[in-house]
Amino acid sequence: MRVGLVGVGIIAATHLAVLAERDDVELEFTVDPRPSGAVDFRGAVPPHYGSLAAALDLHQPDLVVLATPTETHAELATAALLRSTAGVLVEKPLVHDLATLAGLRALDGEVDVRGRLFTAHHFAFSPEVEWAAELLAGHPDWGPVTTVTSAFYDPYVLRGPEAFASYVSSWMDSGVNQLSMLTRFVELTELTSARETDGGASAWCSVGFRSRGGTGTARLRSSWLTGSSSKESSLVLGRSGVEVWIDHTAMTGFAARGGELLADFGNDGRTPRKVAHYRPLYASLLSGRPDPVLGFDATATITAIHHAVPGAGRPPA
Ligand SMILES: NC(=O)c1ccc[n+]([C@@H]2O[C@H](COP(=O)([O-])OP(=O)(O)OC[C@H]3O[C@@H](n4cnc5c(N)ncnc54)[C@H](O)[C@@H]3O)[C@@H](O)[C@H]2O)c1
Repeated sequence: MRVGLVGVGIIAATHLAVLAERDDVELEFTVDPRPSGAVDFRGAVPPHYGSLAAALDLHQPDLVVLATPTETHAELATAALLRSTAGVLVEKPLVHDLATLAGLRALDGEVDVRGRLFTAHHFAFSPEVEWAAELLAGHPDWGPVTTVTSAFYDPYVLRGPEAFASYVSSWMDSGVNQLSMLTRFVELTELTSARETDGGASAWCSVGFRSRGGTGTARLRSSWLTGSSSKESSLVLGRSGVEVWIDHTAMTGFAARGGELLADFGNDGRTPRKVAHYRPLYASLLSGRPDPVLGFDATATITAIHHAVPGAGRPPA
């Protein structure tokens, strides 16, 4: 698997760490307009280019990974799809608006968008999320999820305008993580309210969902107004009185009913959080049968809700 990595910023370090672990992967090239972008990969420095076009003139990768600022994703993905035969893994969110999603879908006759374009919905692979999803799947007797409350905080206030340039807004950056995480538990239906504050650095949104024949609401808080990262979600299964609490920062969780502890989850503390997300993500992507949460159809559903206007109903996915 010859991989080309485009965008050598913060999250690229995690991609490189996970790719370097895999003996089925070679890093064919890196791309970043920043001159200091060249990287060491297993003790060697692969060819580095200032643009994707320059790299694709000289290489035929099997996979192009796009880890660039959010607003560049669609244009670079289009170039990778049209100018190579590679699979394309794009950092989340795939697009920053619905028109851009429509543009990618329109490429479908020309290239195999569904077979080649994937979005790195990494939160869906976090160990505590996979644990909680398996726990709920094993307990139909607990009934439907009725309420979810999820709060994602990132210390990006310290990065100032740079954070907006890379991630656009808190809802753009964390909202997609919250939505992709939720798809492990419930079927999302529509954005029912959305309020962005602090110039886009904070958000308070709610999303309707279906679960085991019932309906419920997820309340999603995100904000950059903090000096530390903290991410937690609580799932309430109101009919049975069960609550599942997952801490995405510590990658831990527990389930309780009243004063009774029903199940718990921890880890050995050895795996950094982002590696714990991207290791199973790459294992799935490179397995030949990628998890549907990485695929274009799931991305279209998540994007439609992410960018919906509350009250206008669910736009066509
Ligand atoms: N930082 C995280 O924890 C994190 C986690 C998951 C996903 N993401 C997503 O990954 C993407 C990148 O985030 P980041 O934190 O690494 O941002 P970053 O700003 O640290 O890195 C982006 C890099 O892309 C380069 N770049 C810009 N335009 C380019 C182009 N046209 N071609 C090639 N390189 C280009 C920049 O020079 C920079 O080095 C964002 O969409 C973000 O939402 C970030």
